[in-house]
Amino acid sequence: MNLFLQKAGAKQQKTGFVPTMGALHPGHISLVETAKQRGHLVICSIFVNPTQFNDAKDFQNYPITIESDIDQLEKAGCDVLFLPSVSEMYPNGLASKTHYELGYLETVLEGKYRPGHFQGVCQVVHRLLGIIPADFLYLGQKDFQQCMVIKKMIGLQGLKTTIVICPTLREPDGLAMSSRNMRLDEKARTRAVEISSTLNYIKTSLQPGDLSILKSNAIKKLNDAGFKTDYVEIADAETLALKDHWDGKTKLVALCAAFLGDVRLIDNMLL
Ligand code: PAJ
Repeated sequence: MNLFLQKAGAKQQKTGFVPTMGALHPGHISLVETAKQRGHLVICSIFVNPTQFNDAKDFQNYPITIESDIDQLEKAGCDVLFLPSVSEMYPNGLASKTHYELGYLETVLEGKYRPGHFQGVCQVVHRLLGIIPADFLYLGQKDFQQCMVIKKMIGLQGLKTTIVICPTLREPDGLAMSSRNMRLDEKARTRAVEISSTLNYIKTSLQPGDLSILKSNAIKKLNDAGFKTDYVEIADAETLALKDHWDGKTKLVALCAAFLGDVRLIDNMLL
């Protein structure tokens, strides 16, 4: 890895890093393409990180499609693929010695419903950036809270990497692309569109004032479509403070997480 980074340094080429857990789809590839378009030496990692799975079944069922992943990365012009093993990433075992002071961010939404998840994300991204100290880190808005958490971790650790957040790529019917979509059967796949249509409903119905009826209507829409909803929330897009009332000015984001069977899907939309 050092050799690649030195070569880029010698050419004064900036480096762009796209960390992933594989099962790549066009959403992941769009991050690689954006980094390429900006002239960066692009490094992608594929590592299904055990420490960020709070649900053992989700970890066991996480899709692995390495041949297709490599094919897509080659076509997108990715320069380097880093494919570490668990022992390479965690030579001293999975228990973390570092606790990241994420504060409020870890207590809401994904932080609340997936205890320990963001500690695991920070642990692996911190380690990855230790091996690949890239100039730019490409992340997807699809994982809105994760972007904020990683930004916080980078600040806490004083790392030099700058985050670039790329828009969410969607299927033609609006479903946000996700590796977990592969696990939906035909019936569930048809229903899954209700997540993005619920977020669109919030976006088009938003009015200054009380937000609680809008939120409960949105939860009802998802539950009526057969989801088991963890949350539908509207939050300040800068701080993620949850909102029950809108002043008509603050930039907001709607976020949701819901299960279809045993597949948990998340999505968000800037309002
Ligand atoms: P993973 O879910 O594989 O996602 C890798 C990157 O792709 C993340 O930054 C994610 O936000 C982005 N991404 C996923 N779906 C997208 C879509 N539809 N449009 C645009 N970008 C999308 O997120 C992780 O892996 C892990 O938590 C990781 C950061 C790699 C740490 O293990």
